[in-house]
Amino acid sequence: MAANSGQWNNNTAFLLAATGSAVGLGNIWGFPYKAGENGGGLFVLLYIFFVITLGLPVFMAEVFIGKKGKSNPVSSVETLAKASNSSKSWNIIGYGGILASLIIAGYYAVIAGFVINYGFISASGVDVGAAEAIYTAEKANFWEMTMWFSIFLFGSGFVVANGIDKGIDKAMRFLLPMLFVLVFAMVGYGAIAGDFAAGLSYLFSWKADDFSAGTIQAAIGQAFFSMSIGMGTLMAFGSYMPSDQKVSRASSVVVTADTGVALLAGLAIFPLALGLGFSPNAGDTLVFVTMTEVFAQLGSIGQFVGPLFYFLLAVAAFSSMISILEPSVAFLSQKFSMTRVKATSIIMAVCFGLSLVSVAGHNVWNDVAIGALDNTFEAMKYFADDFLLLLVGTGMSIFVGWRLQGALDNDILGIENKALMNLWVFILKWVSPIFLMLIWTLGNLQILFGIRFF
Ligand code: PFF
Repeated sequence: MAANSGQWNNNTAFLLAATGSAVGLGNIWGFPYKAGENGGGLFVLLYIFFVITLGLPVFMAEVFIGKKGKSNPVSSVETLAKASNSSKSWNIIGYGGILASLIIAGYYAVIAGFVINYGFISASGVDVGAAEAIYTAEKANFWEMTMWFSIFLFGSGFVVANGIDKGIDKAMRFLLPMLFVLVFAMVGYGAIAGDFAAGLSYLFSWKADDFSAGTIQAAIGQAFFSMSIGMGTLMAFGSYMPSDQKVSRASSVVVTADTGVALLAGLAIFPLALGLGFSPNAGDTLVFVTMTEVFAQLGSIGQFVGPLFYFLLAVAAFSSMISILEPSVAFLSQKFSMTRVKATSIIMAVCFGLSLVSVAGHNVWNDVAIGALDNTFEAMKYFADDFLLLLVGTGMSIFVGWRLQGALDNDILGIENKALMNLWVFILKWVSPIFLMLIWTLGNLQILFGIRFF
């Protein structure tokens, strides 16, 4: 097995990198629109509930595998499987994560490309009422979309190629503070120019009528995606952790920051949208169509606030994209003893191809349905987010809970309280596998075959 290519040389590197990974389009694009679609308050409460009861435990399991295995996602699992007399085939968890990461990279870059494009569009000023037509026109342009996602993809590849200290850590030290300043600035602006009380009430009020199986699935899927669980990123970043850093404490910090930013994103968007008379339930076009319309209504100040908002989204997306590329680059460079530059170049080529397929789903192949899914973009998103991530998350939970039970050293974990330790193992062994597989089965039956139970 190839040894690890390096270690963070300080204790904040993991916190910054994992927070940069977690806080992304999922928080600022995904969370608000899903909260909007699922009736606001109930979704938010369920989301927080699942973050604490299932997300954090599985997050810790993934970081633990990396920190103890000290290598890329595949080799880490193989090492730990061997040490615990388990089958080498558990490495399927690592391969599954890497596959998910490549597919996510493919479609994530396309959404991020859209974000950059919208930064320029909003800066140049948009006429009131024109946002929908602009979105339709932009989506139809294959070459323009290709140009935007390429800038984003190769920019993040450049950082990853430079290694974990000189590339990732250095970039995160710069990107994360900027991200937090921008989020607070947007919340502040929303509070002044929008209807803050309405936003707050939308985000937190309990609407029991909206409760359905779909809401539970949406909340849990969103929680796992937002925390970057199930793709090998946390294993890779965990493997670079200095030896004295504890998995439990570091994980809690990252998960809290991630959830905080998702709520803040809601508090930036909802007061503005509601205050100007728009409903925040437009679905995945919320930040593109609804918000562009909001900025248009704000007049010339919108030409300043709009680009700031899209810049925030782009920064968040960029730090996440770096982390999406890391598992596969670490795997290639360690497994085949190649330089990071060469490994990154190969991964860039793969991701470029996947992004082209994803772009085509918006225009040239728009009406090519893949089974029950509308187009290639939707199919990629579904296969990675709804199918693979929960499967890999379940696999990690079972692997740590059942196979590594005798090897859960507290030097690495840092869970001092015995009852909490037992609770964590119980969740990994029973609660999360059963619950995640139930949700996975119900969700897939509904999406693929239209079968609904409640
Ligand atoms: N957590 C990121 C977001 O919320 O946008 C996306 C992501 C990054 C998912 C890294 C998975 C991952 F491994």
